Amino acid sequence: MMSARARADAFCARFGLRVPILQAPMAGAAPPALAAAVANAGGMGGFGALQSSPAEIAAWAASFRASSNGAFQVNLWTPDPPPPRDAAREEAARQALGTLGPLPPAPGEGPFLPDFAAQCEALLAVRAGVVSTIMGLWDAAFVAALKAAGILWIANATTLDEALAAQAAGADAVVAQGAEAGGHRGSFDPARGEAQAIPLFALIPRLADALRVPVVAAGGIMDGRGIAAALTLGASAVQMGTAFLRTPEAAIAPAWADALARTAPEDTVLTRAFSGRAGRGIRNSATEAFAHLPAAPYPVQRTLSAPMRAEAVAAGDVSRMQAWAGQGAALARAEPAAELVARWWTEAEALLPLP
Ligand SMILES: Cc1cc2nc3c(=O)[nH]c(=O)nc-3n(C[C@H](O)[C@H](O)[C@H](O)COP(=O)(O)O)c2cc1C
Repeated sequence: MMSARARADAFCARFGLRVPILQAPMAGAAPPALAAAVANAGGMGGFGALQSSPAEIAAWAASFRASSNGAFQVNLWTPDPPPPRDAAREEAARQALGTLGPLPPAPGEGPFLPDFAAQCEALLAVRAGVVSTIMGLWDAAFVAALKAAGILWIANATTLDEALAAQAAGADAVVAQGAEAGGHRGSFDPARGEAQAIPLFALIPRLADALRVPVVAAGGIMDGRGIAAALTLGASAVQMGTAFLRTPEAAIAPAWADALARTAPEDTVLTRAFSGRAGRGIRNSATEAFAHLPAAPYPVQRTLSAPMRAEAVAAGDVSRMQAWAGQGAALARAEPAAELVARWWTEAEALLPLP
């Protein structure tokens, strides 16, 4: 097996980086300033475009490029099949959310999300150097269009089966998303979010031993120790999300940023309260309300929870906020992103044997 440093060097050469650190594409929490700071420090910036229109995707890329000529990825969630609708279940979820915030309007028929095909066209149009998927894969025709445009594809996976499917479909690298990760689980089957939450120490070697394409480790990596550990286990690079959430560039709600510093691993929980898909966030009144009450399916629950989420942000009330957090949250530092990237890689290099 190649040494950790050789793997990281090969990854950096392929993806145009100086350090093997990817800032996680975090829908709603990855402004261009954060991505540009990471890219200018030699890592890869990331944009979570789930909620963005084609015009917003173009505007994000233009804003990034005004501040950096470094590498960035644009990420989309592969749509789930249309959810089964269950009026009684949705009404129960609606009433529960109405005790936490304004009673949400009935969700209606949708659509609940921007047009996926138009978003995909926008990725081609902005000529993102790297694009990524979570929750599933692209079809063969779109993969062919990416390859023809020279765009690299990174696919998120939570099991070896998902990773092998991604590799077979043409992914250029696979993110191993460990159970520790903040934000949504990337399980291809939405029903398996909780069941497929595999800790990163078990997941990295399982993927690294079986894949031809490089593995990027994600979940609970907060500093140079974590980076060195992930690379030692077989990863070629790391993707870090929660570690960037307290940086000034991330500009998340101050109450959420402050709460991260107080959040022990056991204070986070996998919850469907906010979107209907399982994701890891800070345990609070909203997650507790849905601990034993089934949420509506994604993306219906996401629509239903919107008024509560908006009110919580306006009030600075983390007890009802969608406060995503990985299990390493307390190690997140409120420092500029570029300084963190430089320090983490210096720390990691000191721990990794020379080739
Ligand atoms: C606030 C937040 C939003 C996220 N949004 C996305 C997203 O839109 N797309 C995606 O692929 N991953 C998303 N993730 C998951 C990350 O890609 C990654 O798996 C995770 O941040 C790694 O764990 P860590 O937070 O412990 O570093 C998000 C994570 C967070 C914390």
